[in-house]
Amino acid sequence: MTGSLNQAGHLVGRFFGHLRAEPLGPEDQAFVHDHIDGDCAGLFWSQSFPDQRHAVDVARRVSTVLPDDSGAVEAALLHDVGKVQASIGAVSRSIATVLDSVGMPMTTRMRSYRDHGRRGAVALEEAGCGPLAVAFARYHPGPAPAGMDPTRWKVLMDADG
Ligand SMILES: [Fe+2]
Repeated sequence: MTGSLNQAGHLVGRFFGHLRAEPLGPEDQAFVHDHIDGDCAGLFWSQSFPDQRHAVDVARRVSTVLPDDSGAVEAALLHDVGKVQASIGAVSRSIATVLDSVGMPMTTRMRSYRDHGRRGAVALEEAGCGPLAVAFARYHPGPAPAGMDPTRWKVLMDADG
């Protein structure tokens, strides 16, 4: 009971967090510019404001734990870029998450949102972003694939939590 209530609270919090987000301020913009550039940065800035906000929050947590790991910070900033192609709002995202968790059918857009990891990874690969960024976009929130350092992976997962 407590578990499902916690889960519901988490969903509700995420939903309202989504509605509240504003454009990044100058400090956060500078943080992004310090860590990614070129086409990878272009993918970051193509995200909605709430998704930019989320990515910077995750990346700042990662940079606290791994201050010298620019690849991990890059991966955090770019891990959800596949959501751009889904282009669905906060309500549909929450519904898609619930439908997926109980294995119910969903609309094409919702499916595209659910598959955002794979889509994001393809876009990041085409843009020439780092291997950890490509892998984390593709496989999160699953376990680290072969060849990826599980310690860095866990830092990213915890930060995205
Ligand atoms: Fe995320």
